[in-house]
This record gives sequence, structure tokens and C-alpha cells, in this order.
Amino acid sequence: MANSRSGDSVIDRVTRVLASFDTTRTGQTVAQIARRTGLPSSTAHRLVADLAAAGWLERDDDGTIRIGMRLWELTTRGSLALGLRQAALPHMETVQTALRQHTQLAVREDDAVLFLERLSAPGAASNIARIAGRLPLNASSSGLVLLAAADPETQERILAAPLTALTPETIAEPAELRRKLAEVRRLGYAAAPGSIELEATGIAVPVRHGNDVVAALGVVVPRSQGDHERIVRLLREAADGIRESLQVASRSTGISIPGA
Ligand code: PHB
Repeated sequence: MANSRSGDSVIDRVTRVLASFDTTRTGQTVAQIARRTGLPSSTAHRLVADLAAAGWLERDDDGTIRIGMRLWELTTRGSLALGLRQAALPHMETVQTALRQHTQLAVREDDAVLFLERLSAPGAASNIARIAGRLPLNASSSGLVLLAAADPETQERILAAPLTALTPETIAEPAELRRKLAEVRRLGYAAAPGSIELEATGIAVPVRHGNDVVAALGVVVPRSQGDHERIVRLLREAADGIRESLQVASRSTGISIPGA
């Protein structure tokens, strides 16, 4: 693989170009891509042109560059997340019909929560979680569920790193986070009032495949909504349903879900 003068490979440079797109930067000019990746302008122009010719990127009429539909198609089709999402969606809809707020499915990816799916309703509480978007593990209810079930090394790494506080109510102090994780394991769910946004509460439960926690199923409701018991009951029933669907899917396809 041809390396540039700085020693990085073509794959490194392509990765930097693709990774410069995120939930807040879905369309960029080539000049912005060059600036954000640190690549020389001529290199950015050449890579973007090659990626666009292959369909991995797309160019709007005004020259804005976006992730190409072909990339979405390929990653969605092939990903194990799709199996999880397909197993979860009917059960998420049951929760959503009962609560009419936001229902979301998330996994741990690197040291963050990655949201795979989200159902919402008009007039629902404010929610900053986006499909394919990330949030800190310590801040969201889904993250707390996933972190509470993570291997000890991962937990210690997160506890030792600087913890992001999104509001004054985010648990960003290691000893307090450790206590909260123990509580989540004991109760079997996480409630995070005001932790992401002061006016919203996130509540999440683990989704299991066999005995492994493979995802978190959560809702975001207005903080004034008090009946957490009913919400937890609905979430647990849905998580049990997802577990059964995953079981059936893995028996019929042989596909296993990461972590299982
Ligand atoms: C949560 O998962 O706890 C959560 C996510 C997004 C929000 C609020 C809460 O906006």
C-alpha cells in the first residue's frame, strides 16, 4: 500500500476522510474535509474524487460532499447491528405505542453509547440521541446499563478517564459512578434524570442474548413523568421479547450478535 511522505497509508487517509463526517457534519466542502483531516488540499481533492467515483461519497449540485448511499447500503446490509435492530423493532413499537415518547436501542461501541434505532412521537420530550450518534457512557441511561454490564477492565478504564458532564446532574465523579453502576446491577435498570438534558429522564434496561448483555433498550420521557415502575415493566417485557427473537434468529440463521 502506497504511503504518503508522512508515512500514513491510503487506508489511513481514506479513514480520515470518512471519519470527518459525523452527526453534526453530514455535508462538507472538500476544503473543510482537508482542514479537518489535516490532509493537503490536493490529496483531499483526489481522494474525494476517487471515493465519489466509487460511490462511497456523493457530491451535491453545489459541491457539498456527503456519505454515499452505497456506503450506507453496504454497511447496513452486512452489519450485525441490523439483526439486533430487526429483532428489536416490533418490541420497541410496543413500548412506543404505550408511552408515545422516545424509545431507543443502543450498544456500546469503543467507550461510548452508539444508538442503533430510535422511535419518537410528535410532541415528545427533547432528546439529543440520534440514530448512529454517540453519547458518553456515564451520562445516558443506556450507557449506564451497558457500562454496568461491561467487563471489569472496560469499567476501570472508563472510571479512570475524565468523565464528561453534560449537565450539573450527570454523574462525572468516579466514586459516585461506581455506586451508580452497582445500583444499576442490583435494580436491573438505570434511571438518569436530568443527566443529558435537565428536563428529560432516560430509563433503560439491558437486552440479553443468552446471558450476555448485547444492547440497552431505553426511553426518554419528560422529567415530570413520575411512573417509572410502569416504564421499567414495559421495557423489561420488551427486552424479554427481543431476547426470544434473537434466540429464534440465531437458531435459523446461525448469525450471532456481538457479545453473545
Ligand atoms: C438517555 O439515554 O438517558 C438519554 C438520551 C438522550 C436524552 C436524554 C436521555 O436526550
